[in-house]
Amino acid sequence: MKKTILVTGGLGYIGSHTVIELIENGYEVVIVDSLVNSKLEVLNRLETITGVRPTFYEYDVRDEEGMEKIFSNHDIFAVIHFAGLKSVGESVQKPQLYYDNNIGSTEVLLKKMKEHGVHNIVFSSSATVYGQPERMPLYETDPIGNVTNPYAETKVKIEEMLEEISKNDPEFNPVILRYFNPIGAHKSGLIGEDPNGIPNNLMPYITQVAVGKLPMLSVFGNDYPTPDGTCIRDYIHVVDLAHGHLLALKKLEEKPGRVIYNLGTGVGTSVLELINAFMEANHVNIPYKIVGRRPGDLPQSYANADKAFREMGFKTKYTIVDSCRDSWNWQKKNPKGFDK
Ligand code: NAD
Ligand code: WQD
Repeated sequence: MKKTILVTGGLGYIGSHTVIELIENGYEVVIVDSLVNSKLEVLNRLETITGVRPTFYEYDVRDEEGMEKIFSNHDIFAVIHFAGLKSVGESVQKPQLYYDNNIGSTEVLLKKMKEHGVHNIVFSSSATVYGQPERMPLYETDPIGNVTNPYAETKVKIEEMLEEISKNDPEFNPVILRYFNPIGAHKSGLIGEDPNGIPNNLMPYITQVAVGKLPMLSVFGNDYPTPDGTCIRDYIHVVDLAHGHLLALKKLEEKPGRVIYNLGTGVGTSVLELINAFMEANHVNIPYKIVGRRPGDLPQSYANADKAFREMGFKTKYTIVDSCRDSWNWQKKNPKGFDK
């Protein structure tokens, strides 16, 4: 009998790549997504890639009636909770929107899980919960919470909620995955990162310059205490990240209680290194200029990824060059993203 996984936010960037992994590994997938930051076309692409059209509900996870319908219709083994707003900059402008959406949706989800005896959840957390770290690399045991934006506050708060519930409910198994910087796309080029408006993140900005949608990349500062002066990040291929969720579901079969894993490569790459890797991998030129620092940027952020390897056998397969090639493959095949 196939295990059913409810994937909230399953038509988003990471969720859609994870849905492919789940289907290809024999899971029954049910997606709930409000389409606040994705398009229904992604469902068609998932069907094209896998040959399966996952069950889809167009609900906001805060919609208790809609969520009751989903939990009544399906015998859910686990929830993978991707649904959430993720722009650091927007969260500073609209804190209440982020608190209500990210925390409010999680509250409804956890209530429905309890009412229907669903004990397993994989939660999309973020390296931003580490705030202003004292040292690199980042370990799961490092302190969290000293954060500087409402988006990161919502991730910290949800991790705290999961901790509190697991203290009082020995049956509850939250697997918390702290993602670093996902980039890349499925090898088919049929799905990929499709941000609304001007991209905040580096890779989609690079690919939009490469495809001619944007004229030039601004590099936010080259006066950081790093080898080439630009910020260092842990860029992980989104398909490696998706695979990590498959391993998290296997972990849930052990009834692990609350566990936390960094999902990163363990290797830092600078902004200039990524730009050069992209240009060399794809034989395209990326015009850029050095401008001032972006407020809030950390000089370095990269994972110690040993625990995920030790406890789940998680190991990244794809390189920065693979990610650059796959991101470009997606963007050049879809210059307007999922818009026709
Ligand atoms: P995304 O915006 O592409 O996907 C999120 C999906 O959730 C979208 O399809 C959106 O429509 C949906 N959604 C948002 N709020 C919803 C709600 N209330 N009800 C129903 N659907 C809702 O983002 P992503 O990059 O795929 O990120 C997925 C998760 O991983 C997010 O929680 C994000 O905070 C987290 N994360 C992302 C990154 C990253 O760099 N992309 C890094 C760390 C953590
Ligand atoms: C990476 C580097 C920028 C754009 C963010 C969120 C984090 C997570 C991942 C959700 C930085 C530089 C960027 C540009 C640039 N998202 N840059 N020019 O800031 O590490 O993490 O996305 O969870 O929460 O904080 O990623 O891609 O925005 O920036 O020079 O046009 O690229 O300064 O050094 P970041 P990013």
